[in-house]
Amino acid sequence: MPLDVTDLLGQLTLEEKASLTSGSSFWYTTPVQRVGVPRVMVSDGPHGLRAQPGESDHVGLGESLPATCFPTASAIASSWNPSLLRRVGEALGREARACHVSVILGPGVNMKRSPLCGRNFEYLSEDPYLAGELGLGIVDGVQSTGVGTSVKHFAANNQEHDRLRVDAIVSERALHEIYFPAFERIITAGQPWTVMCSYNKVNGLSASENPWLLNTVLRQQWGYQGLVVSDWGAVYHRVPALQAGTDLEMPPRAASPAEIVDAVTSGALDETVLDQRVATVLELVSKAMAVLDVEETFDEQAHHQLAREAAAESAVLLKNDGGLLPLAASTRLCVVGEFARTPRFQGAGSSQVNPTRVDIALEELLAAYENATFAPGYGLDPGPKDDPLRDQAATAARDADAVVLFLGLPAAAESEGFDRSHMHLPANQLATLRAVCQANPRVVVCLVNGSTVLLDEVSAHAQAIVELWLGGQAAGSAVADLLNGTANPSGRLAETIPHRLQDNSSYLNFPGDSSRVTYGEGIFVGYRGYDASDVDVAYPFGFGLSYTAFQVTDLTLAQRGCVVNGDLAVDVTVTVTNTGDRHGAHVVQTYVRDVQASVARPPRELKGFGKVALEPGDSTRVSMTLDQRAFSYWSELRGEWVVEPGDFDVEIGADSRTILLTERITVDGPSVAAPLTADSTLLEWLQDPVGSGLLVPLKNHSALLQDEHLVQVIGTMPMSTLAGFGQGLDENDLRALVAALPS
Ligand code: GLC
Repeated sequence: MPLDVTDLLGQLTLEEKASLTSGSSFWYTTPVQRVGVPRVMVSDGPHGLRAQPGESDHVGLGESLPATCFPTASAIASSWNPSLLRRVGEALGREARACHVSVILGPGVNMKRSPLCGRNFEYLSEDPYLAGELGLGIVDGVQSTGVGTSVKHFAANNQEHDRLRVDAIVSERALHEIYFPAFERIITAGQPWTVMCSYNKVNGLSASENPWLLNTVLRQQWGYQGLVVSDWGAVYHRVPALQAGTDLEMPPRAASPAEIVDAVTSGALDETVLDQRVATVLELVSKAMAVLDVEETFDEQAHHQLAREAAAESAVLLKNDGGLLPLAASTRLCVVGEFARTPRFQGAGSSQVNPTRVDIALEELLAAYENATFAPGYGLDPGPKDDPLRDQAATAARDADAVVLFLGLPAAAESEGFDRSHMHLPANQLATLRAVCQANPRVVVCLVNGSTVLLDEVSAHAQAIVELWLGGQAAGSAVADLLNGTANPSGRLAETIPHRLQDNSSYLNFPGDSSRVTYGEGIFVGYRGYDASDVDVAYPFGFGLSYTAFQVTDLTLAQRGCVVNGDLAVDVTVTVTNTGDRHGAHVVQTYVRDVQASVARPPRELKGFGKVALEPGDSTRVSMTLDQRAFSYWSELRGEWVVEPGDFDVEIGADSRTILLTERITVDGPSVAAPLTADSTLLEWLQDPVGSGLLVPLKNHSALLQDEHLVQVIGTMPMSTLAGFGQGLDENDLRALVAALPS
């Protein structure tokens, strides 16, 4: 029976109301038995349930109940398959119900501003559109089971360094175009039960105390109806946070309820504000109560099988020279690398799951390949044993038909709580790579890492490369499926792999210092930055190979609606054909390029995608619609989204650097320039259709306006300044010009 929130508000005392806006313990809201309000439980995510019945912590130290560990975000995002993420979300919801957990604290949708962020394994992409579509899949899946989610961490939490204090100085345009859209998409289309506000400041104000973030943007602009929960320990001043829009403080801080009572009593806090926050908490509890009394279990084997399928679909085939992969079962295989025997399949910190089981790649490969041997090749902790291990591996590799070499990042290299300082694979592993490849050129490198690593040396030596990311508890069996061809790789990079860390646009401004970090690259994050700087990359955003081949043809565009009505739309359709000899899946990527803009814009931006699976020889039409937002940019001048009239290219890419088909459209609409004033520049007047017309009479007797070169020289001067020079344009002329402008 849902709670009668209005009635309860009338019954609750001030003290009871104040208590409801903080948790009662690490993972529970506060009950008020007197009026029948129960407590409900929340637990981490995002890629597996971390329900702690006993000792609680927010960094993954304490024990948690067994749960399926699915591929982490950076892995599953590489599937580019929202319906897969939805299925994983449904499974997460079923596991939460079995543990009486009402809200799963995920997905994490912060942008990957720098490859160094320690939690990049827990985030989906460097692109906001992709992250929004995929995050929505998870939220829809979880919430379809009657369990809530917490889209996190709102906002601009893009590093671990100094995360509780750092002030992210971000332009309004970069916030709206890069750091908000994934949240906006999930909130407007998925209504997540909760939003988790981040630890950091945004432009001077802590997220938990930031009314612009939590009220103006989240609730007024996006229409968010749910609850804002703090990140654990992210409330620094309870009353200002409550006023700004943080409904629930977690974990509880003993002094908070009394501070709220005092603030109301003294008049510093309007009780109606407290009532709003309490109502939001009660509405959450009312929804969340449904799972309190269920007695359900979940199908561990089915969930493990889903984890295996997801891990395989998340893998990205980066190289496969000579079609080395897939490897026949008869292949005399040498498996090298401690990661084959000691799997790393998830990241450290609050997302750490106690898996129901873990598949070991070495065991799976020994079972799949009857003539297989193993050599550790290196130690997970570099040391004196590395040299003999390396030599032993090279010897073992020499006579094999093919070598599968596991390389990756040790757990200590990346985690919640700190950032990396470089992108290199460990030196001892690279030494083994060189030795093994010298002994046998037929080497397949399998990568196990949460954040991107530099691959130039791997690419120079290995004949094939499969990026497995942190693929979850079933990654070991998934890699066997991929190598023997049971699964055909269909992953695509959701983040760029650069040649050098220095090429990344955030490099000079990461992680900041003195508790301030300036997002100097603005909107030019990830591929947007590499493309705008025309920097070569190792593997571009959207890249991924297959064991089969595809052809993409017949791009058609159908434009409808208009900018003025806000319903501009372009229907995009292409034909995809599997021209190879085995079943496979292809991702159609649709990018939009503003051919000529009055503001800086990235060369192209992902605005649509679709994944299709095809049998050999089959074709299908893939359609998607680009809405008005796909052509828009955030105008800081106007404080809103605008579409600048002109030409746009709609590009179909196999990845962000391989454009297969392009069609140009022309979009009409009102000028987005600032309205002309006396302080507009001469060039702005000349570029404005009305303004230039008004200047014609002046042109005839003003030397200023007759000389093209001179116009270029003085063109960026305000008219009010030029009028002061009095050479053919005086103050009276200017007053008359401004008066003649349409109001
Ligand atoms: C952590 C994380 C957050 C997590 C929460 C609870 O510090 O930032 O993602 O959900 O605390 O563990």
